[in-house]
Amino acid sequence: MANIRCVNIRKSYGGHTVIENLNLDIADQEFVVFLGPSGCGKSTMLRMIAGLEEITDGSVNIGDRDVTHLHPGERGVAMVFQSYALYPHMTVEDNIAFGLRRQKVAEEEIARRVRHVAGLLGLESLLARKPKNLSGGQQQRVAMARAMIKTPKLFLFDEPLSNLDAKLREKLRIEIRKMHLELKTTTIFVTHDQLEAMTIADRIVLMRAGEIEQQGTPAEIFDRPATRFVADFIGSPAMNFRTCLVDREGDRIELQAGSIRLQLPSGEFGELANGMKVEVGLRPSKMELATPHDKNAITGTIVLVENMGSEGQVIVDVDGQEISFVTKGFRTLEPGQPVSFSIDPASIHVFSPETGRSLRKAN
Ligand SMILES: Nc1ncnc2c1ncn2[C@@H]1O[C@H](COP(=O)(O)OP(=O)(O)O)[C@@H](O)[C@H]1O
Ligand SMILES: [Mg+2]
Repeated sequence: MANIRCVNIRKSYGGHTVIENLNLDIADQEFVVFLGPSGCGKSTMLRMIAGLEEITDGSVNIGDRDVTHLHPGERGVAMVFQSYALYPHMTVEDNIAFGLRRQKVAEEEIARRVRHVAGLLGLESLLARKPKNLSGGQQQRVAMARAMIKTPKLFLFDEPLSNLDAKLREKLRIEIRKMHLELKTTTIFVTHDQLEAMTIADRIVLMRAGEIEQQGTPAEIFDRPATRFVADFIGSPAMNFRTCLVDREGDRIELQAGSIRLQLPSGEFGELANGMKVEVGLRPSKMELATPHDKNAITGTIVLVENMGSEGQVIVDVDGQEISFVTKGFRTLEPGQPVSFSIDPASIHVFSPETGRSLRKAN
C-alpha cells in the first residue's frame, strides 16, 4: 500500500501537449476515480503512473520512492484494462498464477494465493475452465484476480467494466468496492461514466482537456460543482440550464428568465449584482411538484413523462424551452397538462457565462 504524488506532470506526443501541468496527491488506501470525457487524458495519466508511458516532464512518487524513471515491473503496480487479454490456452487457475510462476514463487504459496483471490472474486468453481468457456464478466474477474495476486502497492483500473452489460457492471462495481474494503490497496479507477464514478469513488478527480477541473468526494462534486462543465457532466438526468437576469435590491436577489422567478439566499451569492446575466443550473432530482405556497414555483406544459420505475422524469415546456424534473408523483401526469414545480433555493446553481465558474461563495 502506498500514497501517490504526481508533481508538475506534462505529457506531449511529438509537439502536441495533452497534459500541461498536473499536480495530484492520493492518500494511502484511497480509492480515486479519474473521470472525464473521452480524450481528456485519463488513460495517459494512468499509464504514466504505471510506467507504460514516458513522462515528458515532472515526477511520480509511489510511497516514498521516486518511480519516474523506473520500469513498470519495478513500481509495484498492477493494472486491469478494458480488454481482458487472458491466455486462451491456459485454465483460469494458470492464468491467475502466471505472474507468480514467472517470478518463481513456490508452488505451495501460489496455490494458497490463487485460492485466496479466487475466493474474493467468486472464481472457485471456475478454476479448471478455459477463458472461452467464461462469460465476459467472469473473464474480467479472472483479469482482476491475475492483477490482485501480485499483492501490488497500487491498483490501476482503466475502464475495466466498459465492455460489460449494465447489470454485470453494477455487480462487479460492488465487488471491486468490497475488495477494496478488505484489501485497502490504494486504487485509481478510470471511467468516463459519471454514475460509475459517483458510486465507486472515495474521491473523484474530474478531468477536462488534460487538466483537473475539480476534485472532491462524490457528494461535493454533485452538490457543489465548481464549474458549469462539472455541473453538466455529473448527474442523470442532466442538469437544466437557463440564462437569467439578476434583479437585486440589497439582500433580495431574484433570478429572472421569461416567466421564471427564483429567489436566492443572498448570503451565499455576494458577487451577484443587479442587471448581471448568469447561467442558472437546476438539477432535475432537486425539483418537485410545487405546493401552493412555494416561492420558487416554475409553471409550464408537460411535453413528456418518462417512467423510470419508482420515479418519473417530467419534461416541461416553459416559455418555449424544455426543463425536466424528477418526481415520484408522476403517474397522474399527462402530456399537455399544465404543471408547477419548484426547487429548494439551496440547490440553485449560478455560473458566470464568461468563465463558467460557480458564483456561489465557497463554504
Ligand atoms: N500514442 C499517442 N499518440 C498521440 N496522441 C495520443 C496518444 N495517446 C493518446 N493521445 C492523445 O492524448 C489525449 C488523451 O488521450 P487519453 O489519455 O487516451 O484520453 P482518455 O483516456 O481520457 O480518453 C487524446 O487527445 C489522445 O488523442
Ligand atoms: Mg482512456
